[in-house]
Amino acid sequence: MSQSNPQLQQQIIEAFNFRHATKLFDAERKISDDDFNTILEAARLSPSSFGFEPWQLLVVQSPEKRELFRDFSWGASGAFHGTQGQLGSASHFLIFLAHTEQLQRHNSAYQQQFMREVKQLPEEVVEFMNQAFQKFQEHDFHLNSRREITDWSSKQAYLAAGNVMTVAALLGIDSCPIEGFEIDKAVGVLEQHFGVDPTLYQPAMMLALGYRANEPAFAKTRRNQAQMVQYF
Ligand SMILES: Cc1cc2nc3c(=O)[nH]c(=O)nc-3n(C[C@H](O)[C@H](O)[C@H](O)COP(=O)(O)O)c2cc1C
Repeated sequence: MSQSNPQLQQQIIEAFNFRHATKLFDAERKISDDDFNTILEAARLSPSSFGFEPWQLLVVQSPEKRELFRDFSWGASGAFHGTQGQLGSASHFLIFLAHTEQLQRHNSAYQQQFMREVKQLPEEVVEFMNQAFQKFQEHDFHLNSRREITDWSSKQAYLAAGNVMTVAALLGIDSCPIEGFEIDKAVGVLEQHFGVDPTLYQPAMMLALGYRANEPAFAKTRRNQAQMVQYF
């Protein structure tokens, strides 16, 4: 068995206990460029199915642009707490976009370009990947409809989002994942004010980052390991 590192183990568990869904940030405190770059690198280096990285990231720093989401983003507006919410107080506000089937159906033009230019794969490997991914999508995982493929992209985006939150916590930075918004209205705002083409990209989740204004209102609760894990 390899040597364990109790100090590192403790640091990791402390970071996971430190992270909580922050409802209101200290609007005066901003994340440093170096820390934010480290957070973005965690997203960029995240794993994804077949390595297709089926997500885009918007960083919304303009207060006016953030306000466009307020009316229909009950999970980020502070409406339940009588505050400006995450939208009005976060140092950095991210929107994860999931690639739709136009980009991520097997044999798409996007995937061909991605495999050649980003992955630098030789032609015979591109051909093999096309076939393997088609089988995975159509036969193995039944990802056929627009919704199914976009949801698969969202699942990959959530892995990147998870890494963002963990790395932020390790850096002493607070975060909140946000699904509390009306997706149709978000699509409309993204198209009209951000130039996001909804045939290519759909919002997966929002993610606010910054420094907590208050300590968490509730202690963290979780099932215990025995309730969560089964060994065979
Ligand atoms: C995908 C996802 C969406 C969430 N959406 C919201 C949201 O819109 N607003 C919010 O305040 N918290 C949101 N949360 C936070 C959860 O409510 C929170 O993680 C959960 O209650 C556990 O609490 P903890 O993160 O503080 O440990 C979301 C969490 C996840 C993973």
